[in-house]
Amino acid sequence: MTLNELIDMLARQPRVAVLTGSGISAESGIPTFRGADGLWKQFRAEELATPEAFRRDPKLVWEWYRFRRQIIREAEPNAGHLALAEMEKRLPHFVLITQNVDGLHQRSGSRKVIELHGNIFIDRCVQCGKEVDRSLDPESNEEIPHCECGGLFRPGVVWFGETLPPDALDRAWNAAEQCEVFFSIGTSAVVYPAAGLPELAHRRGARVVEINPEATAVSVHADLIMRESAAKALPEIVAHLQSVKPS
Ligand code: OAD
Repeated sequence: MTLNELIDMLARQPRVAVLTGSGISAESGIPTFRGADGLWKQFRAEELATPEAFRRDPKLVWEWYRFRRQIIREAEPNAGHLALAEMEKRLPHFVLITQNVDGLHQRSGSRKVIELHGNIFIDRCVQCGKEVDRSLDPESNEEIPHCECGGLFRPGVVWFGETLPPDALDRAWNAAEQCEVFFSIGTSAVVYPAAGLPELAHRRGARVVEINPEATAVSVHADLIMRESAAKALPEIVAHLQSVKPS
């Protein structure tokens, strides 16, 4: 499929599903997980992003999440996030599925966002389940924050070995099964179940578009590959869309 064929298809307002990964936020200055400068090159996932790590050393885990929250608070959505928010406005059947926990899609104006791995700004009590949104409320000044009930707060993200929120996963699965165009953007597509979504869409007959400067597991299923950064490729697609009338 060529870029022009993709634009023609989008102009007919098909059902579109988009999966994003950390690569879409790279140009906002938020490090990705894998690759040369990836977080998992410098930090060990099993010491920081597992339920066992939290039980063993909640202070260390909270230091890591506060460090990442700080990077994200200082970051701004980039042209890729903004282009996806614009696509949502133009395409009536549009679902954005993200593995990211940074909330930058919502900050750039996207409304229909499915967060598969949770949100880094949520504190969730391990005892009573109460949630506090620290993107609105000030950060707790305790090293290990506690809930009023006495339980420990943990970050509201999905850790290795944990299941994804069932409602988010169901909605993502349905969107991938039913879409006619599926975009895989800025993800290495190695962490399941999210990594299974592009393949599912492909099996169900969707056209798969990959936007990623590097080859990934998705590339073999892709009908169109844009080997560019998200902040370059997505505004290009939106600019073309703006120039065609819906048929
Ligand atoms: P990865 O770090 O595995 O992959 C990032 C991808 O983004 C790579 O394929 C890069 O080539 C690509 N990339 C880098 N810069 C880009 C840019 N400017 N534009 C477009 N693409 C770019 O990140 P994820 O696939 O998101 O899970 O990782 C999946 C999950 O692994 C994360 O959600 C997290 C992590 O462990 C949990 O925390 C549960």
